[in-house]
This record gives sequence, C-alpha cells and structure tokens, in this order.
Amino acid sequence: MELNRRTVLAGAAAVGLTAATAGGAAHATGDGKPVKSLFGKLADGTKVYSWALENGGTRLKVLSYGGIVQSLEIPDRRGRYANVSLGFGTLEDYVAKSPYFGALIGRYGNRIGKGRFTLDGRTYQLSVNDGENSLHGGAQGFDKRVWDVEPFTRGSDVGLRLYRTGVDGEMGYPGTLRTKVTYTLTRHGDWRIDYAATTDKATVVNLTSHVYWNLAGESSGTIHDHELTIAASRYTPVDSGLIPTGELARVPGTPFDFRRAKTVGEDIRVAHPQLLYGQGLDHNWALDKGLTARPEHIATLRDPSSGRTLRIATTEPGLQFYSGNFLDGTLVGSGGTVYRQGDGLCLETQHFPDSPNQPSFPSTVLRPGQTYRTTTVHSFSA
Ligand code: BGC
Repeated sequence: MELNRRTVLAGAAAVGLTAATAGGAAHATGDGKPVKSLFGKLADGTKVYSWALENGGTRLKVLSYGGIVQSLEIPDRRGRYANVSLGFGTLEDYVAKSPYFGALIGRYGNRIGKGRFTLDGRTYQLSVNDGENSLHGGAQGFDKRVWDVEPFTRGSDVGLRLYRTGVDGEMGYPGTLRTKVTYTLTRHGDWRIDYAATTDKATVVNLTSHVYWNLAGESSGTIHDHELTIAASRYTPVDSGLIPTGELARVPGTPFDFRRAKTVGEDIRVAHPQLLYGQGLDHNWALDKGLTARPEHIATLRDPSSGRTLRIATTEPGLQFYSGNFLDGTLVGSGGTVYRQGDGLCLETQHFPDSPNQPSFPSTVLRPGQTYRTTTVHSFSA
C-alpha cells in the first residue's frame, strides 16, 4: 500500500442490522486488536459477528457468517477511501439472496458436473444447486455456515483465523473436513489468505474467495473500464452448463487473451460462442506458472480513474474470472444502489472447475494424513 502506511489496528464501527452502518469507515481504537461487533442473528438465534481490522492503509470487515468480506476499503491516488467489494448492509440480505458476495467458498469452488464424481471406485452424489450441477460446494456451502473466528496480532500483522469442521457426508462430500482459513492484513496493507484443511477420508477440496471487486467503489457502475492482465496462455472452454470440456484452449486471437493489459469491456461484446454460455466472461484461466509452492503474481486489475490497483499472487494453478454477468438489477448493495450486470468482477484463485471428473486437470484429491494448503495474496496500491 503506497498511502497511509501507518499501522493503526482495528476499527470499531457498530455494524448493526441496518444498511446505514454498512461500508462506513472503521474508527481506529489504536489498541492493536481486531474489533468485534454484533452484525445480526440467524433465524435460529445464532449470533453473527462483524470483525473490523485495519493495517497498512487497508480496512477490512469480515463476518463470522460465510467468512464474508463485507467491506474492503482502500485509498485512491489522492488518499480517498472507497469500499471496493460488493456486498450487503444486512445479514438478512446475505442469507436470503447473496450471489456469494465476498464469501469463502467450499468445499469445492465452481462447478462439479452433474454434482457427481468417483474416487477410489466409489461414486459420490453431491448437493445439486445449479441446474444439474453442483456449484460452490452445494446448497449449503461454506459461504452459508457460521465460522469460529479468532483474532490475532503477530509482529506487525493483524488478522483473523476462521475455523470450521464439515461432517462426513456434508453436501454429499466424503470425509470430516477440518478447515482453517487465515485472513492477514500485513503492514503494507496486503490482504493474504492462507487456506488449510485435513480429512479423515479421501475427498476432494478446492477452496477460494468470492469477492466481487470494483476498484472505483462498489456502487460506482460497471468494471468494464478496469484494465486486467492475467498471466495465462490457455483457458478451459466450457459447455452450455459452464462445465469444462476438458480442452486447454490457447488464448491468442480470442477474447480470453489478457496477457497484456486490456479493459474488461474491450472484447466482452465479441460474438464468441464461449461468451454466450455465461453471458460474458466466466471461465477458468490455466495460469502459465501452474501450481507453485509459493504465491506468484498472476493478475493485475487497475481502475484508471482512481488509480487503485490490485495485484494477485497465488500458489494455485487456476483463476476463475467472472465478469459479474448474472447481476441483474434485482439486488440493492451496501452503498444503497442497485447492482447491474458487470458492476463487479471476481478473480477466484483455485484449481480448475470439475477437476474430480477431468483426469488431465491438476488433482483436487485430499487424503488422510495430507494437509491441503494454498495461499493467495492481494496487494493494493494507487
Ligand atoms: C461462477 C459463476 C457463478 C457465480 C455465482 C462464479 O464463481 O463462475 O458462474 O454464477 O460464481 O455468483
């Protein structure tokens, strides 16, 4: 983070059930700890908390429900803050109608064809919630669960550890899955996510984060002027149900070529058959670097008007770039405006969709005794 390099920790906005508080600036307490406040209650009375933290000029609010990033504020080139993550002001909206705004996604990011896969000779039927397919872990994925949240400060870092254990058979997936996701704000204002999971039975896992970015601010219109680069020479074409065909197609000469910075809008109206399936870009890019032990830079998103820039580094081999195609003017966001098509975009670092049914894709199998570990780092500047 170029601006506001101070390490003022924690903000204490009273985040209640009214939209009025949403997206408001956190009030620094200076006591060095993330600040917890009640956000709302689920129908069964379970309390959902909002955690506010601030470091290196980045302000983050996270909900214990779904591990949701409810707002993420960063300055523009003149130091003016905006919430660059689409979301809602109330828990009720998140529960009733969220298209995964800001959420932690599990057990499996993106789609598994027909919600079915075979592992070690056994076929598992998953919860089907997207036509005939399973999307983002099924009907009650990690995004709709309450997580145990533990704040921490470590040196100049502040953060939250989120824990959740999924029972064997949850949403059809085998194995008790113990998951720990760590959100860290570094002194440079980077937002780092470390995912870890273990299982007691062979299973498949593919965790990701579903922030909808709009670097001009979440209620400012479309992201079509944002410039994007993705370090990928290939992507995975899909069928009409958005399931990869198994092919790794080359990007040169197609709307999928983001190897050099180009605006999101530049090719979005090209009559390419792949753009019709998901009403825009909604594909997995096979990153040139592949799976790596350490996070490597794979994408840059820049809003020329504000100068706000997001750089993403990951250990993961794939990036799902979704251009917010299904936002259809039926949701009112945290800033009080209606979200329309293209008002935010997702850059989901992960393994490829439908990998459990695609032997040629990098494996998503996790076995007892192994630990699933992936890391993604979001760096901001202006
Ligand atoms: C998928 C889209 C889906 C969206 C849900 C994205 O990760 O690629 O197809 O509609 O999530 O909000």
